Amino acid sequence: MTSEQIRQSFLDFFESKKHSIVPSAPLMPDAPNLLFTNAGMNQFVPYFLGEREAPYPRATDTQKCIRAGGKHNDLEDVGLDTYHHTFFEMLGNWSFGDYFKQEAIEWAWELITEVWKFPKERLYASVYKPGDGEPANFDQEAYDFWKAIFEKAGLDPDIHIVYGNKQDNFWMMGDTGPCGPCSELHVDLTPEGNTKGSLVNADSPYCIEIWNLVFIQFNATPDGDFVPLKSKHVDTGMGFERVAGIIATSKNFTDFSTPPSNYNSDLFTSFFDQLTSLSGHEYQRTLPEDLDNISEIEMKDVIFRVLADHARCLSCSIADGILPGNEGRNYVLRRILRRAVMYGRRLGLENGFFAQLVPTAVKQLGQVFPELEKQQGIIQKIIQSEEDSFSRTLDRGIQLFENTLTKDGNISGEEAFRLFDTFGFPIDLTQLLAKQKGIYVDTEAFNVEMEKQRDRARASQKKTDILVADSNGDTEATTFLGFDTLADEAELIDIVKAEDSSYLVFNHTPFYAEMGGQVGDTGAIEFDGAHFDVIDTIKDDHGRFLHKVSGDLASISSGIEANLIVDHDRRRSIERHHSATHVLHWALRKVLGTHVRQAGSYVDSERLRFDFAHFEAIKPEELAEIEKLCNEHLLDNSIVRWFETPFDQKPNDVIAFFGEKYGDVVRVVDIGGFSKELCGGTHVRATGEIGLIKISSESAIAAGTRRIEAIVGNSLYSHINEIEQLIATASQSLSTAPADLLKKIDSLLTRNSELEKRLKKFQQKASGNLANDLVKTATESDGLKIVRAEVQASDPNALRQLGANVLGKLGEGIVVLGAKVKGKASIVAFCSKGAIGAGHKAGDIVRELTIRLDGKGGGKPDFAMGGGTNVTKLEEVINTFQR
Ligand code: ALA
Repeated sequence: MTSEQIRQSFLDFFESKKHSIVPSAPLMPDAPNLLFTNAGMNQFVPYFLGEREAPYPRATDTQKCIRAGGKHNDLEDVGLDTYHHTFFEMLGNWSFGDYFKQEAIEWAWELITEVWKFPKERLYASVYKPGDGEPANFDQEAYDFWKAIFEKAGLDPDIHIVYGNKQDNFWMMGDTGPCGPCSELHVDLTPEGNTKGSLVNADSPYCIEIWNLVFIQFNATPDGDFVPLKSKHVDTGMGFERVAGIIATSKNFTDFSTPPSNYNSDLFTSFFDQLTSLSGHEYQRTLPEDLDNISEIEMKDVIFRVLADHARCLSCSIADGILPGNEGRNYVLRRILRRAVMYGRRLGLENGFFAQLVPTAVKQLGQVFPELEKQQGIIQKIIQSEEDSFSRTLDRGIQLFENTLTKDGNISGEEAFRLFDTFGFPIDLTQLLAKQKGIYVDTEAFNVEMEKQRDRARASQKKTDILVADSNGDTEATTFLGFDTLADEAELIDIVKAEDSSYLVFNHTPFYAEMGGQVGDTGAIEFDGAHFDVIDTIKDDHGRFLHKVSGDLASISSGIEANLIVDHDRRRSIERHHSATHVLHWALRKVLGTHVRQAGSYVDSERLRFDFAHFEAIKPEELAEIEKLCNEHLLDNSIVRWFETPFDQKPNDVIAFFGEKYGDVVRVVDIGGFSKELCGGTHVRATGEIGLIKISSESAIAAGTRRIEAIVGNSLYSHINEIEQLIATASQSLSTAPADLLKKIDSLLTRNSELEKRLKKFQQKASGNLANDLVKTATESDGLKIVRAEVQASDPNALRQLGANVLGKLGEGIVVLGAKVKGKASIVAFCSKGAIGAGHKAGDIVRELTIRLDGKGGGKPDFAMGGGTNVTKLEEVINTFQR
């Protein structure tokens, strides 16, 4: 069977058991506690928890998964063994409150043994048996179903059923969420196939778990409780690459003489062919016998596996909009890519080789995951640009690493930290290089340095320390009314005193508190007879809005009523910039691609700043297109709507930032139906209010992260006025109409360069004349002509030119010139060939003279220069110069 046939027959089998075939979910998880989609069941979590009703009672699919970083992390094993991957496909079947253990177990057995014909005597099933203090009971039901199956097959259940505790047989997606006991199927792949279960869960490549049947019964809560679910569900996951590898290695179960490997399946052949043509090495199917002592051939095979795996992983994640970057899941991807490049270098592969593997990944997986085909160009570009920037880091880093090494055989924590902090060389790469050289990196000391740096960062970012202890203790979240109104009557419920300011808390408020990049409101608060300016509004950990005021608070106390008035003009201006940010985000995705993802944003009344993931500088024509699209949509005067909705029921096309923590109820901001984002900020009512948008800058703030700054509305109006004023002033001083400014500047520049040329000629002539005059002053002693003079020169260079000129005219001899330049004495000396032959050296002359000027200087025998601070002595020093 080919891998394609295996995948299809799995889906067909479960379709015949009335399962709906569904598409794979993207690798970007919905759940906030996951880095990547790491199991087939991720997309079904709301059905398991009963939050939403499943649209079908049974489902089956092949799900793209990444297990790197996070709870299930296989990255470090990839390549070194033959059955772990960062990226893999998980085939699965699910029951949402429908069938349970019996069908799950019987159908698994039927597919494996009757459809695919795995030898029954090589199969082992594991059953959950909790250890002390572990959740739930022994899974008697699963045991009984397996027992019946093995007995029917004439196999001893005491041998073919093994037990596992929470670690092996209780499956959890993360630390929280749906979970339950599981039963796994393991295959004995030893040549004889008679290990009697002794290799199950023993980390042996000869006994591999191929299918996990999870019986979802609980929800793990953050407090560590396992709360029983209303309905019971089935969640299974089969390692597709493992099954394909077993079938390929054993030639459809006819030959168990060679070691099993996922990489023997046709899923990897085209990668290996390409790597062979790039490197000249042919894959030998070896496996490191001793991980501390890997042979050259073994290492090359490790690298082949790493590169094929990582190329699949990067291609699929970028196709799903997860780009290599500096934080979280993006950083995990960057590390995977860098690991690939490092290994590639060991194979002698050049910068750009990894991007060349993308078309192979697309060809291999594009049929099943069509987003790969659609995004191929962008995936390649992103990988290439990452490779380029990492190659630069790597070249510099390897050099530094070598230098660091020479001091002492090992790398200390401080040195590793310096490599990281000053040169951007990640610790895992330092470790990898060290490992290759068999030396030690003090990672513990490195971590101590990292922690110190974090402390420094925290100290520098120290926010206003609110002394909540000083408050009256009523810590209910404040109700915000400022979406609809900018003035309100409210009751003062608390006064919070911090080090140097005071904050007023009300039961409700129209003031927006700084959040999500939008600055806090300012304005005024009036009590009966007392007035306070609000200089900022922030939110505390309890969700209370704190209105920062200055002044004497003696006259007010909790319980009194106040008028709260937001600075209307400022707030409107902030709103314009905020809504413009959404429009800009939409246009960026439209022009550059949907991989564009917000990385940060700041909005105040003067400007907006938007940071986002993108792999290269935006071209001027793209920027112009983005700005044009934005302005067209502003002129359309599209209606802006906002509404609250349960997170699960938000419109499908809304941009939500997965991994962000959103509450159960979210606010959707919809601009003209074209831009929909989850956002808690305040906005204009129609895009016409924004006026016009002008992008003022585009720059890089980190590898793969760009920043755009823009201005709109009033700020842009003031900006245009300033520019107009500038033009008017320039026109006035150049005595020309604004329309003729360019012509005028052009003609001035031309005239200026003509004048400069004439001036230069004039200076040359003057210098020639002066040189002639100086030559006339030459004295002679012992047949040696000497010119000595104090002259005027604008700088040491002019002095040098004059000296050279004089010597040229003199022919043979010595020239010593001095000048006062910017309050200092400068000296140059020249000796002709003949003078040098007679034993004179310009360097010695200058050294000697400058000492007398309280300075220093020197140079070559033919020319030298120097200077000193004792300007008053210059004349004497020059005049008394003798040879
Ligand atoms: N969710 C189960 C797993 O990933 C099937 O192993």
